[in-house]
Amino acid sequence: MPEPVLSCAGVTAGYVRDLPILHGVDLVAHKATITAIIGPNGAGKSTLIKAIAGLVPVSAGAIALNGREITNIRPDRLSTEGVAYVPQNDNIFRTLTIRENLTLALRRAGARREAIFDRLMTQFPALKDKLDDKAGSLSGGQRQFLAVANALASEPRLILMDEPSAGLSPKAAEEVLEMARALTDSGVTILLVEQNVTQALRLSDYCYILAEGRNQVDGKAADLLGDRVVADIYLGGRRKRVNA
Ligand SMILES: Nc1ncnc2c1ncn2[C@@H]1O[C@H](COP(=O)(O)OP(=O)(O)OP(=O)(O)O)[C@@H](O)[C@H]1O
Ligand SMILES: [Mg+2]
Repeated sequence: MPEPVLSCAGVTAGYVRDLPILHGVDLVAHKATITAIIGPNGAGKSTLIKAIAGLVPVSAGAIALNGREITNIRPDRLSTEGVAYVPQNDNIFRTLTIRENLTLALRRAGARREAIFDRLMTQFPALKDKLDDKAGSLSGGQRQFLAVANALASEPRLILMDEPSAGLSPKAAEEVLEMARALTDSGVTILLVEQNVTQALRLSDYCYILAEGRNQVDGKAADLLGDRVVADIYLGGRRKRVNA
């Protein structure tokens, strides 16, 4: 088993004091793997990603990166720690061109700027052909590629991706998830929220199911694929309730 990169232990977090959305969530993401988080709408998937990114206050529990605690990290410190966050919505500047988006993303890259830009162009040939087009004119799939390219500008070791395939055609969704898989081949660790259960289980290594802000089931994606419990949770059936 590769080494743990990210670990959440008993994470309790929410937007309003004394009204937690997450109730003691545990999660581990191992190096160069894809860990998927699935669960119904409102389960707390985005809240968990935001809590890791320091955007939602954690009131109990701990979050560690490479064994070092980063609970309630200042979001502007994330890139220094090698973490990139690709939000669920509004993850690119639509009125700017692709080149301008990348220029902004690369503003802290210093001497590595050109090398990273060149690598992104090799990684995302579809963006290279449209550098001077407005980002808003891209197809849904290409927008997600741009959002990920922006994230990669800081050369992260861990990428938090919130539903990168939402609203995409099945083919575009497949391409985005395959791109995520390709990133792990270069040693990057990915924590991915995915609304398509089958796709999440097919493309990830390990999977956590959340509901009502709590861990429900987790396991190797291959083992969960075809598991009845997974279907039950999605059908609102047997839910593990704690203090409910
Ligand atoms: N900014 C906010 N302020 C207060 N409550 C919020 C905020 N954002 C989300 N919530 C609440 O937190 C709970 C979990 O929401 P969250 O967005 O984490 O769910 P999710 O699992 O990502 O759902 P989806 O699949 O719809 O993206 C919901 O009850 C939601 O109403
Ligand atoms: Mg969400």
